[in-house]
Amino acid sequence: MTRETWTTRVGFILAAVGSAVGLGNIWQFPFKTAEFGGATFLVVYLLAALCIGLPAILAEFVVGRRANLNVVGAFRGLGHPRWRFVGVVGLFTGFWILSYYSVVGGWVLRYVAGSATGAYFADPAAYFGAISAGLDALALHAVFMVLVAGIVALGVEDGIEKATRLMVPSIVVILLALALWAVTIPGAGAGYTYYLSPNFGELASDIDEIVPFAVGQAFFSLSLGMGAMITYSSYLDGDDSLAADGATIVLFNTFVGVLAGFVVFPLLFAQGIAPDESGPGAVFVSLATAFSELPAGRVLGVAFFLVVLIAALSSAISLLEVVVSYVIDNYDVGRAPTAAGLGAAIFLLGVPSALDVAWLGWFDALTYNLYLPLSVLLVLVFVGWVLGADAVDEVRKGTGGAETPAVAWLWTVRVVVLLAVFGTLALGLQTLFLEGGIVPPIDFDPDVLIRYES
Ligand code: TRP
Repeated sequence: MTRETWTTRVGFILAAVGSAVGLGNIWQFPFKTAEFGGATFLVVYLLAALCIGLPAILAEFVVGRRANLNVVGAFRGLGHPRWRFVGVVGLFTGFWILSYYSVVGGWVLRYVAGSATGAYFADPAAYFGAISAGLDALALHAVFMVLVAGIVALGVEDGIEKATRLMVPSIVVILLALALWAVTIPGAGAGYTYYLSPNFGELASDIDEIVPFAVGQAFFSLSLGMGAMITYSSYLDGDDSLAADGATIVLFNTFVGVLAGFVVFPLLFAQGIAPDESGPGAVFVSLATAFSELPAGRVLGVAFFLVVLIAALSSAISLLEVVVSYVIDNYDVGRAPTAAGLGAAIFLLGVPSALDVAWLGWFDALTYNLYLPLSVLLVLVFVGWVLGADAVDEVRKGTGGAETPAVAWLWTVRVVVLLAVFGTLALGLQTLFLEGGIVPPIDFDPDVLIRYES
């Protein structure tokens, strides 16, 4: 059977943007920005995305397009079968992330409906408490996984490419419209000030906290560290410039994250809501509060949560595709049953997160502090020090053959990016061990099943 490919270069770019733009940009980014002091965090994040994210995404593209195989097979295909374990780490990470990502996706589904009916208008905080854990959350987690598996089952061209071609432009259009509307609400000005004036004194004092988080956020947001970009670029067959595609994707992804801030902050400040209450419920509770108090809140709420939903779906399909691609490349099974079977397995892994938000937080903390930096680090060592000249060769394609930029990229990966990621991993591990985050929150309380159902 011949391997699938994208029909066009734009199709690939949109799918990659669809993978990158997701809950990371709209749900995590504005609130991490708030937690770490607004504009100050924004500056560090922008630097991290550009100086670390871009070289790293290029490294994944090199592996994917050169091998034209799934994450695990790619390392064998490039003649380094011993490095297959890196792909296995990636597969595992994808499984792990999607299990709780889908639970949050389920919340978003719920909020689209809740905005339409005004269900959360009376008491946004209590609403979040009631729907975020328990059987309700479990049911919506299931619905979200069914949607994701359905799109992946349709395949690269008919499923992923067609879906993202529609999804990505709608995300941008709706978010842009909301950002423009936000300008008109009275009292929004304080939000812009907060978002756009960095405090460098603060940066100097909190740098050890801000930097690892900004780097982790850049990885998560760019879908690095679990082979999503390796898998997507493995469906490329042309010789276009990977650097140009990578830059487009990084810029686009950053643009959407920043744009989300232009919706969230004016909205919060105009309603006098403190932006730095952190935690997974923050975006839901505070935006729901804003929508419940604004004129036309239902329409705006539906528009906003619909964007979040589309963004979450187009990212989740990339997470599932990585694992599906591995299975169908290696075993004699069809795409649809594979997507269904793996979707079911991931659903099961997400059950604890759906029943208890503490579990979701634990899954998320391990992702940020351990799996992502570890797996990005391994890919970078492989591309920088093992592939070396072959990687340079791949990067030079489509750029008129210029050698200097490609070699400069290689050395950036070998030294600067590698050290930065190593530092991130070290600080992440420190956080995990110091805060006891490595231990799962097993004091699980079966009452949640009953509590939220009454
Ligand atoms: N980038 C997506 C977001 O911002 C999430 C995501 C998709 C992801 N694929 C990934 C994160 C792979 C890490 C690794 O929501």
